[in-house]
Amino acid sequence: MSADGRFTVALIGASGLLGRAVAAELASAPGARDWRVVRTARSRADAASVKLDLLDHDAVRGFLRELAPDAIVVAAAERRPDVCENDPALARALNVDALSVIASEARALGAWVLSISTDYVFDGTSPPYSPGDAPAPLNAYGKSKVDGERALLASDPSSCVLRLPLLYGPFSEWNESAVTSLTPAIVKSADPANPPASMDAWATRYPTFTPDVAVVIRGMLEHRAKGATISGITQWSGDEPMTKFDIAQGIARALKVDAKLVAQLTPTDATPRPRDCHLDSGRLEALGIGRRTPFDIAIGGLLAKYPDVSPQ
Ligand SMILES: NC(=O)c1ccc[n+]([C@@H]2O[C@H](COP(=O)([O-])OP(=O)(O)OC[C@H]3O[C@@H](n4cnc5c(N)ncnc54)[C@H](OP(=O)(O)O)[C@@H]3O)[C@@H](O)[C@H]2O)c1
Repeated sequence: MSADGRFTVALIGASGLLGRAVAAELASAPGARDWRVVRTARSRADAASVKLDLLDHDAVRGFLRELAPDAIVVAAAERRPDVCENDPALARALNVDALSVIASEARALGAWVLSISTDYVFDGTSPPYSPGDAPAPLNAYGKSKVDGERALLASDPSSCVLRLPLLYGPFSEWNESAVTSLTPAIVKSADPANPPASMDAWATRYPTFTPDVAVVIRGMLEHRAKGATISGITQWSGDEPMTKFDIAQGIARALKVDAKLVAQLTPTDATPRPRDCHLDSGRLEALGIGRRTPFDIAIGGLLAKYPDVSPQ
């Protein structure tokens, strides 16, 4: 607890797609005054956050020792599969080594770590996946996240991993999420002068709304603040199976554009990706934690806030 009795949370990666939603939830939730949330960011640090480069281990140790948080939420990562595939050393430095430094410092401070991971730890051949199922990542991103999970839990078994699938939510540019990144091509295809847009119909995803994940994370932090620590591997997922073709149709409906979409029935990605990693969310559901906003409602609300959808 901080000197004024508040529960102190270090939110690492607060400038990212998920980190921003978590910061917003912790600031606005009932009981927010009982929390002290210190946000970190790297390239997008602002007046409300501390600039922290996770590759600078001394800086990470110094930040945590000075703050002495009760809990540390790690939402910082290299999460672009193609970047990880091309630079596995960078993926490892951020997704494994930096997390190990945070873990050992947290253990010394008695802080609880909640680290975000991914459904890409699985190969996608036999869904749904329980937290205890054996990981079998297909690409460097998934491998780095499995190694990060293992390093964290080996360092302190009372820490926690939260695996998530494809995320979307309030964004600052279309490419921040693989959901909203489809929008420019969808809009472009609606112009009679343009050809149809090809959309993957091979892989099944479970698009999950970042404000819903933020509610889950707040629930997990509240458990910790009450002394009921959730440890080990947890998972949270939206419950609407959708291919990117389905997602694109949903976006076209929300925008009321007459898109020309073609289903791509075989994978075309250079980096191998799993076909269906549906995550079983039962462990958190049994604790009464969670919220799921229907895709059509969430995407409609999001796109209404971003009226400029002219093709780029
Ligand atoms: N996005 C998805 O669809 C998805 C799906 C499943 C799981 N996840 C997991 O969810 C978590 C959050 O992902 P996200 O989509 O929110 O990622 P994101 O939007 O790419 O944000 C990444 C965050 O990491 C920070 N960061 C990057 N390099 C850093 C460094 N060297 N030092 C300090 N901070 C650094 C960024 O800070 P700056 O921008 O300020 O540099 C940013 O805050 C990750 O663990 C990811 O693996 C994401």
